Amino acid sequence: DKGNHRHFMEKEIYEQPEIISHALGHYIDFANHTVKSTDKAIDFSKLSGLAISACGTAYLAGLVGKYWFERYARLPVEIDVASEFRYRELPLSPTQAALFISQSGETADTLASLRYCKDEGLKIGAIVNVRESTIARESDAIFPILAGPEIGVASTKAFTCQLAVLASLSIAAGRARGTVSEAEEKAMVKHLAEMPRIMSKVLNEIQPVIETLSRDLSRFKDVLYLGRGTSFPLAMEGALKLKEISYIHAEGYAAGELKHGPIALIDEHMPVIVIAPHDRFFEKTVSNMQEVAARGGKIIFITDEKGAAASKLETMATITLPNVDEIIAPMIFSLPIQLLAYHTAVFMGTDVDQPRNLAKSVTVE
Ligand code: M6R
Repeated sequence: DKGNHRHFMEKEIYEQPEIISHALGHYIDFANHTVKSTDKAIDFSKLSGLAISACGTAYLAGLVGKYWFERYARLPVEIDVASEFRYRELPLSPTQAALFISQSGETADTLASLRYCKDEGLKIGAIVNVRESTIARESDAIFPILAGPEIGVASTKAFTCQLAVLASLSIAAGRARGTVSEAEEKAMVKHLAEMPRIMSKVLNEIQPVIETLSRDLSRFKDVLYLGRGTSFPLAMEGALKLKEISYIHAEGYAAGELKHGPIALIDEHMPVIVIAPHDRFFEKTVSNMQEVAARGGKIIFITDEKGAAASKLETMATITLPNVDEIIAPMIFSLPIQLLAYHTAVFMGTDVDQPRNLAKSVTVE
């Protein structure tokens, strides 16, 4: 049932605050501001490293997770798309654990990667939406994302719930390994607890500017997304979402890679969407933005209040989000990215929930 919404995708975008709040309840103790100890089958305190594998949007959630596990838990992360991971003959050790992220829990390549790691003797964790799925069944630990059924082929709420689970797990791992203090845990958990309310506010506020912008975006044939740090996987997720449902060609790049190639493409026909909260990477990303502007590129700037105030560059549009803590920024910044793809596709009249050539669950290699 779509409720008042035109598409399942729209409904799933708008239900994120409520769903994430529910999902977080499984991983954090709101009263004491601590992470709950979840599935004990994986003991993060003793691990030498983590292997993560997944496909599509789930892989991009894993890439954000890599930054978190490395930063907060000081755990080295090896991550790859499952179709490569399964054939890489990656040397692994039973002192590592492996995490597989899958909304459906049935993706063939992800399952094959899981079995590879199992044969190598690693403990297996599944971050899944469908708890009765094959991937969940074959895992030692199950970390449910609790997103409820996702009908739209383009993943939205599963992505932000995967991020919420990965954030919680990386804090839990940090606590277990002594790399996150009690005070740091409390502070980060407080930010996570505030996130649903901020998400609702953002969804309400950005709608008009995104709708206007989508009309302009639908005239272009190519779009480039740039980001640094955890905004880099978001840039790729933005591009994936746009290409899946609007069929506009889009690429997501690490902002620092701009001058190593894609800058050759910059002209007034290819807008550049820059995802840059005012974090420790901001100045560097702005200097990449300057390089785009200097070549006549059109910029769509997705930033926060501090970032909007700090940049003097002329943009085609600026989407200004509230200032939020780093740990929740990827979830908050996912919202404009999802809505932009959604409205652009609606404007172009494509089949948003069932885009051509795509299947919700890819159970063959
Ligand atoms: O069910 P899974 O999470 O394993 O699916 C993985 C990908 O097929 C999926 O995320 C795909 O990329 C989506 N269509 C993205 O919107």
